[in-house]
Amino acid sequence: MRILGIESSCDETAAAVIEDGRRILSNVIASQAGEHMQYGGVVPELASRRHCENILPVVRQALADADMTVSELDGIAVTYAPGLIGALLVGVSFAKGLAMMTGKPLIPVHHTEGHAAANYLAHPDLEPPYLGIIVSGGHTRIAEVTDYTTFRTVGRTRDDAAGECFDKCARAMGFPYPGGLHVDKAAQRGDASRFHLPKTKISGNPYDFSFSGLKTYIVNFLHNAAQRGETVNTDDLAAALQAEIAATVTEKTIAAAKALGYRRIALSGGVSANSGVRAALQRACDNNGFTLCMPPLALCGDNAAMIGAQGYYNYLAGITADESLNAQASKELRSGD
Ligand code: KG4
Ligand code: ZN
Repeated sequence: MRILGIESSCDETAAAVIEDGRRILSNVIASQAGEHMQYGGVVPELASRRHCENILPVVRQALADADMTVSELDGIAVTYAPGLIGALLVGVSFAKGLAMMTGKPLIPVHHTEGHAAANYLAHPDLEPPYLGIIVSGGHTRIAEVTDYTTFRTVGRTRDDAAGECFDKCARAMGFPYPGGLHVDKAAQRGDASRFHLPKTKISGNPYDFSFSGLKTYIVNFLHNAAQRGETVNTDDLAAALQAEIAATVTEKTIAAAKALGYRRIALSGGVSANSGVRAALQRACDNNGFTLCMPPLALCGDNAAMIGAQGYYNYLAGITADESLNAQASKELRSGD
């Protein structure tokens, strides 16, 4: 089956053609990050307008790269939630129109479930059940992936996502948006041991996350230093921040895997591109005899290949939509409970 994936939940307009959920026939991304950079973050209204302009050329390019026509597709998968509502609506409306015009199945995909599916494109042997850890700009979640379409949440962030913490701290350090990558680069030059960041303690579910305290500490620290006219070594601070986030993600994921009896872990989401997170989790998995799957860097951030992959499995599970499909700014994962 060849599925067209469409993604427009944030600032990337993307389309891809995926065969049988595993093989990338094409993967086109038009990123607006450069344009939003001057505002220090994504401007929702601007993002919607750019999606409107980009969606048709991006889909055309994806079909051309796959050497296919619309009529040869077996389905149209689209991110319908969660994300910026005006941005999501562009992809959803476009996909609905295309599905109506062609009579092809319309397949709704949850963006976070899509991130998890990025690993199917890079790891042919990966099959549920496994423990997923999805870390992005909007989500931080440990979930049992019991089958291709069932995600049982084990722990999640109670406030900021890890990517948001990276981005807000990056901004305070003077790095451009999106700052996660810049923190990563700075961290590789820095010495994490020069800063002692406060450890976040939370009560209740031990697999939940909280990153807002860390973010606030760093933003206040930089603000106070600026007021006193002191310069801060941002390489060292970035290294300490990255080490802290990597350690938290790793400790909780490994603890959850042990408690729930999983030996296979799959990391995904924009922050899965972070060198510190990748290295720390890989080390811990090696030490415990666990298998770790991570997407290649090109599939960590937002893309439509992952939407086409998850779309295939949704279709097999009978998850399709009609013209009443609407975009949703927030939406829980499909839990099967
Ligand atoms: O998955 P994604 O592209 O969008 C959401 O679904 O949120 O994730 C974007 C997030 C941003 O916060 C970005 O700064 C972060 O992923 N990110 C990174 C790195 N590359 C992207 N964070 C840390 N280190 C990186 N190398
Ligand atoms: Zn994403």
